[in-house]
Amino acid sequence: FPVERIRNFSIIAHVDHGKSTLADRLLEHTGAIKPNSGNNQVLDKLQVERERGITVKAQTASLLYEYKNEQYLLNLIDTPGHVDFSNEVSRSLSACQGVILLVDSNDGVQAQTVANFYLAFGSDLIIIPVLNKIDLKNADPDRVTKQLESLFDMDPKEVLRVSAKLGLGMDSVLEAIVTRLPPPDVNREARFRAFLFDSSFDRYRGVLSMVLVKDGRLKVGENIQSCHTKKQYEVKSLSLLRPQEIEVNELVAGQIGLIGCNMRSSQEAHIGDTIHLSGQQVEALPGFSPIKPMVFAGVYPMDQSQQINLRNAIEKLTLNDSAVSVELDNSPALGQGWRLGFLGLLHLEVFSQRLQQEYGTEAILTAPSVIYKVKLQPTKQTMKDGKDVIFINNPAAWPEPQRIQECFEPMVMGTIITPAAYLGPVMSLCIERRGVQISASNIDNDRIMLQYELPLCEIVIDFHDVLKNISSGYASFDYEDRGYASTNVVKMSILLNGVAIEELSSIVHLSKAQTIGKSMALRLKDIIPRQLVNIAIQACIGSKVLARQDIKPFRKDVTQWLYGGDVTRRKKLLAQQAAGKKKMRMIANISVPRDTFIEVLKR
Ligand code: GTP
Repeated sequence: FPVERIRNFSIIAHVDHGKSTLADRLLEHTGAIKPNSGNNQVLDKLQVERERGITVKAQTASLLYEYKNEQYLLNLIDTPGHVDFSNEVSRSLSACQGVILLVDSNDGVQAQTVANFYLAFGSDLIIIPVLNKIDLKNADPDRVTKQLESLFDMDPKEVLRVSAKLGLGMDSVLEAIVTRLPPPDVNREARFRAFLFDSSFDRYRGVLSMVLVKDGRLKVGENIQSCHTKKQYEVKSLSLLRPQEIEVNELVAGQIGLIGCNMRSSQEAHIGDTIHLSGQQVEALPGFSPIKPMVFAGVYPMDQSQQINLRNAIEKLTLNDSAVSVELDNSPALGQGWRLGFLGLLHLEVFSQRLQQEYGTEAILTAPSVIYKVKLQPTKQTMKDGKDVIFINNPAAWPEPQRIQECFEPMVMGTIITPAAYLGPVMSLCIERRGVQISASNIDNDRIMLQYELPLCEIVIDFHDVLKNISSGYASFDYEDRGYASTNVVKMSILLNGVAIEELSSIVHLSKAQTIGKSMALRLKDIIPRQLVNIAIQACIGSKVLARQDIKPFRKDVTQWLYGGDVTRRKKLLAQQAAGKKKMRMIANISVPRDTFIEVLKR
């Protein structure tokens, strides 16, 4: 394909505005897949994605489209649609010249629409606004067009109207891609350079790197090198995605494709890396900032016999998801495990669901935590090694209070769009979560856009769910990183029968310690079943007890009441009791259900 007839684009949208449906319809319309092949949403591959109806991992496909008797190659780069994955969005965008900004013509502009718009705008991309779902009875494309005009200064004449579901308006979208977007800025005569923007793992071929070829060409059998790691590989396979893989012998500048080169782990495929031919000097393409996990949690096997299984499963899953960071971790109660870093709570949940579904491993997840920055009191030691500022993602590693000079916590800028009717409850929620309002503006007669600066730890666990609840599902939320701010946090410990359980300890804001301590003690009382001994649950800061609950002991023998009961019935009951215990973990001589650590945090 001549470069002038190549276009690289992405579709960006708020969750559920129909991105996957539009992608499918474009594939059908250009003959890449058969219509109604029964395989809806070809691009959403993972089981979790199908179940949850969200796109987790970016997928990509190339389409052929004829316009004015000329064939065009349109590379569609799929992007995930959830707040947790906004870095995947930005990395996909850097391979494009333009985006389709898809907006539901009933829901209108939502928080992620705004966030996605600014991502694309900030990357100097051409934005094609498309209103979807015009077939809906309540669709109001005129109102939504006005929102786009007032928020983003868009020209109403440029706003397209489609129904992805019914396949209406597909040609207008494809034509806009051809006519409004420029071809990629590439040079086929220059030395080979490719930009690595995603990777996936194939059981047989190892890591496959997804690249945009920026300059020159690459053939099977040639040797390539990574600018970042300097490692060299022989190219074993090259393929295009239509959306099924088609093996080819050569990739040329402007194309997007997969390189298979026996790379063992996705850790070697650095997103943002530049690939070139071995022995040739090239200038590295501007990469992006490394992926930054925001939420950390410990992952432990149910018992140590499952240690190896769990390790294998984590290794395989991280091969496919390089956004998860992995470190070894040790806990007094749970033994050897890992501390994993995620982009957000949804990412964490998707990961643990995949561990279970795809690898059948039942793991214990501990309470998620953000990364705190702690400035230590100067001592001879800290002066000597200059390590007076430390980053802590694990409450177990929290320093003694007398060693701390000042604490800092990660902040975010949250954007909320809500119907005016829910403004009161939404603002109360933000204040309750220690939010500071930055701005408020009307985006039309009925909808308000709010911006709040919020501590990340306050939104990480259940903010989104609560927001949806108090607004009957109408308010939407997105956030971006906003660095660190000074804060007054303390470590709260949970004691069971006087033994501090590190895995239940958490870092909390001083103003909330009392409330959180009380509610944790109460929740633990509900979660932990009655046992043979009395259990005292205490929430403490240092030696100060904030709350206490007791779980009264259980009768000694579950079969006691079966006076003279027959043997088989007794055996059955004892077996049931044993089975019940299996999902439990013994901690400080107390059986604790496996999901305690995460359940206890949901307020
Ligand atoms: P994420 O993958 O989570 O980002 O969601 P998405 O934006 O890909 O949304 P998806 O394509 O899964 O569509 C969401 C819902 O909207 C589905 O139930 C679709 O059937 C429906 N939908 C998509 N396009 C249209 C349309 O043009 N009209 C109508 N009525 N429904 C549509």
